[in-house]
Amino acid sequence: MGNVLYEADGHVCLSFTDLVEEEHGEVVQSNQFLVVDNGHAALIDPGGNMTYSELYLTISRYFPPKQLDYVMASHADPDIVASVGRWLTSSDSRVLISQVWARFLPHFCQAGKTAGRIVTIPDAGMVVPLGRSQLVAVPAHFLHSEGNFQFYDPVSKILFSGDLGAAMTSGAEAGAVVTDFDAHVSRMLPFHRRYMSGNRACRLWAAMARTLDIEWIVPQHGPSFRGREMVGRFIGWVEQLQCGLDLLDSSHYRVPSFRA
Ligand SMILES: [Fe+2]
Ligand SMILES: [Fe+2]
Repeated sequence: MGNVLYEADGHVCLSFTDLVEEEHGEVVQSNQFLVVDNGHAALIDPGGNMTYSELYLTISRYFPPKQLDYVMASHADPDIVASVGRWLTSSDSRVLISQVWARFLPHFCQAGKTAGRIVTIPDAGMVVPLGRSQLVAVPAHFLHSEGNFQFYDPVSKILFSGDLGAAMTSGAEAGAVVTDFDAHVSRMLPFHRRYMSGNRACRLWAAMARTLDIEWIVPQHGPSFRGREMVGRFIGWVEQLQCGLDLLDSSHYRVPSFRA
């Protein structure tokens, strides 16, 4: 089932939070998204092969998958876009991904499948027309991938934030919104300390994010941050976050002892 995040005047935003469940710590729960505008649609971070069949069936209730305009990938991780070959087979869509990853993406596909169908997003980001509306690919480099984008919808004012804001939860919890930010921090912190690159990227992102009119930040794992106050708290938390390179010292670079 999809969760309707926004619906008005032919514009619909949906999230799918329960297609991949955490299983004994072996599989990370993940969210997928569909934005429809007046007969056109973009699938955001559709996931890997585990999600493909369920997602295809589920989005069919809202939009004919064959007619998808875009598959949009925040970065090139398996849980983001490993299913891209199957989407290219079953739909007429093009794939949008960072110029850093465009030449790596065909490795998820059969030879020739991506020919002429990859739209590379330059480092500065880009505006993507969708129906009568637009989606904006917003830079979020090194948060966590080297070539990394978030997708902002100016109609719903939702920022689909990829792995930034991720928390490790069940699918049921992922469909909810965060109500107690302080309590939620402990569920985000281990992931962000290890998977995000460093505070310099965090600060630059926070300054940019404050220039956007954001009503709702929706990450690719776990629950979302809704309302001006919660969005503001999240941006402030990211701004001060110490992570990745900030935390490295020589203890992280020791050769494991082995028999010579
Ligand atoms: Fe990732
Ligand atoms: Fe992810």
